[in-house]
Amino acid sequence: MEEGARVLYTEDAIQQRVGELAAEISRDYAGRDPILVSVLKGAAWFLADLMKATTITCRMDFMAISSYGGAEESMGVVRILQDLELDIGGHHVILVEDIVDTGLTLSYLLSTLSSREPASISVCALLDKSVRRIAPVEIRYRGFDCPDRFVVGYGLDYAERYRNLRCILEVDPQELEEDPLALVPHLRRPS
Ligand code: IMP
Repeated sequence: MEEGARVLYTEDAIQQRVGELAAEISRDYAGRDPILVSVLKGAAWFLADLMKATTITCRMDFMAISSYGGAEESMGVVRILQDLELDIGGHHVILVEDIVDTGLTLSYLLSTLSSREPASISVCALLDKSVRRIAPVEIRYRGFDCPDRFVVGYGLDYAERYRNLRCILEVDPQELEEDPLALVPHLRRPS
């Protein structure tokens, strides 16, 4: 499997791009005190680094939803398991996503959050698998245009593992199914 896994984005490349996105957001949202909203669990890594790199006042909040249910294909079915604590009504919201694939999850979230009447809502996604899009969604801040491959690391998981990789790897889910520990060497080496 190790031969089958390929580093798509190194830790350095991710951190550099996150810094650039934070600079753009800091410029666009100066004086607007936005709320950064993320979906647990995958986007938590990105949200924390992004927020640390901003230079404006902002708040954060999380939602938990069920969508993939442990497999790697989206069903387009989204259920809110844990809602936001903050009232976003009248506030500027930035929805921070780890990866946008079909866009079904994001479009559901956007319609749910929009119904709470925020002052504005925009999307910041680290990875955009644009070729897989089914539901059209506007991504205002995009980290990388990601190839149509299954990826793990930097918060992204396969069956809950490998979120703790500091880089992002392209993997074969079938091989990981057969050998869940196949990527251990990547956890041990600096990326
Ligand atoms: P969408 O509704 O198809 O856009 O799916 C978005 C969600 O699918 C993301 O938030 C991830 O949880 C998951 N996802 C999509 N592609 C990948 C991948 O390559 N690796 C890990 N999770 C993924």
